Amino acid sequence: MDKLKQTQIEPLIDLTPTITWTDGRVKMIDQARLPLEEVYIVTDDYRVVMDAIYRLSIRGAPAIGVAGAYASVLASYEITSKDREDFLAQFYSYADELSATRPTAVNLTWAVGKMKKLAASHPGNVVEIKQALLELAHEIRNDDINRCHALALHGADLISNNSEVMTICNTGGLATSGIGTALGVIQYAHASGKSLKVHVCETRPLLQGSRLNTWELKRTGTPFTLLTDSMAAQTMNNTSISAVFVGADRIASNGDTANKIGTYSLAVLANYHKVPFYVAAPLSTVDYAIKSGEEIPVESRSPREVTRIKNIQFTGEDIEVSTPAFDVTPANLVTGIITEQGIAHYPYSKSLKEQRDGKHN
Ligand code: MRU
Repeated sequence: MDKLKQTQIEPLIDLTPTITWTDGRVKMIDQARLPLEEVYIVTDDYRVVMDAIYRLSIRGAPAIGVAGAYASVLASYEITSKDREDFLAQFYSYADELSATRPTAVNLTWAVGKMKKLAASHPGNVVEIKQALLELAHEIRNDDINRCHALALHGADLISNNSEVMTICNTGGLATSGIGTALGVIQYAHASGKSLKVHVCETRPLLQGSRLNTWELKRTGTPFTLLTDSMAAQTMNNTSISAVFVGADRIASNGDTANKIGTYSLAVLANYHKVPFYVAAPLSTVDYAIKSGEEIPVESRSPREVTRIKNIQFTGEDIEVSTPAFDVTPANLVTGIITEQGIAHYPYSKSLKEQRDGKHN
């Protein structure tokens, strides 16, 4: 049995119950309430899933792709017409509404786009189309699990024993259906016996690092320390950080990478301190249709997320606030992109295409 298959069969880390399909309903752990409360959202209403995506109760590019797929199934169940053309018109309208919930992570439009394509090309009647949509949603979820395992395996080879690494935002099991991307790489390295420590950036404004990485790392017993985002430079200067690992919401074909706001600062810092900077993401996060990061739509969120924590306001009223949820790191600051196919290197317009076409290392 090769290394990859063995890993898929014997994962070293228990999967996080991020999103599952149970008795005709979607079940999601509510990430907006973690870690203080572990509660689940269970629903058969696609609008509730859509709202959960918008509010970040489910978040992380691969996880919202899977949520979008299951929400499409729920949306299809709402359509009562048995007429194929009527069904498709209504289904496309729901699907487009879903795709628009969060614009940066390409996985959402990628997954919902696959659902639309299947509906359009399926030769059967409406009942059969609905059944096929559910099967495709399960496939998208399983595919995510497998991609995460494969990329964690490739990435873990980059971490040596007794090392310290840094990360931002949450890219673990919570952000995917599998073991995660960047945090999955780190946790996999630890689970396979390497001694390491993770420097976790808190990730302002919504604190995915403080709230979610610490919850996940505690669950797997991986040593970590939490820092505010503004402590990263000092930490890189004072500590021997062997690499920075981050995830991605959308990677342009030239390797420019959109990820949580603060990622670009880390890339600049890593470059200055000569620390390797790796992006870990499945190829479903690569948008081959766009040439560079300039074409990536960056989501802007409510100023309330910056001026409040847990709904407690700590600024005066009526002030101007910057609200981008993501930034774009230029490809030349990225040491390598870890995917399920291996590690892609600069120039990414060539290496990412080779990975897509199966001509990778
Ligand atoms: O706003 P979020 O929490 O959805 O942002 C998530 C990130 O930026 C992640 O790094 C990215 O989606 C990759 S998740 C494996």
